[in-house]
Amino acid sequence: MRKRHALVISLLVILNLGSVGAQSMKGHTEAEPLSNSPGDPARGRAIVASRQSGLCLLCHSGPFPEERFQGNLAPELGMSAANLSAPELRARIMDPSRFNPNTIMPSYYRDDHLYRVAAKFKGQTILSGQEIEDVVAYLVSLNNQNPK
Ligand code: HEC
Repeated sequence: MRKRHALVISLLVILNLGSVGAQSMKGHTEAEPLSNSPGDPARGRAIVASRQSGLCLLCHSGPFPEERFQGNLAPELGMSAANLSAPELRARIMDPSRFNPNTIMPSYYRDDHLYRVAAKFKGQTILSGQEIEDVVAYLVSLNNQNPK
């Protein structure tokens, strides 16, 4: 009898923790733009496709007919952007580990809690604030192209 109680209680604790986690994931947003000038979707598209800066296509695929090699480790970008607002997209690109601590996606706007960073990259983020805004504008434009 005792054992069964313990099992029920631990199941309740697990279920409860699960739902708290899910709520905070959904709710987290970054409302403040990271640059003074608004994001530019065309520049954002170039950053997403770039093999030097964004590298998004290493893992994601998207509407880039000119790019032969695209990733299959992550959802298609149109699907990733679907139903996410600019503040939600910004938060996910700045620091995806807030939503999934085990994610393989890099935190594009974070310079703390990093280890063994080469001296010339210390204190820098992967993308600048303006570049993040450009990428967000591009992802929002994907959403507008495919209204769900
Ligand atoms: C190393 C692989 C990798 C790279 C590079 C990467 N992502 Fe992701 N991304 C993922 C994975 C995997 C997920 C799914 C959620 C998770 O596992 O954390 C994801 C999730 C997302 C999400 C959240 C919505 C969703 O589908 O869960 C967005 C938006 C996103 N990525 C955009 C981008 C953009 C824009 C870039 C480039 C600036 C990028 N990603 C680069 C792997 C990557």
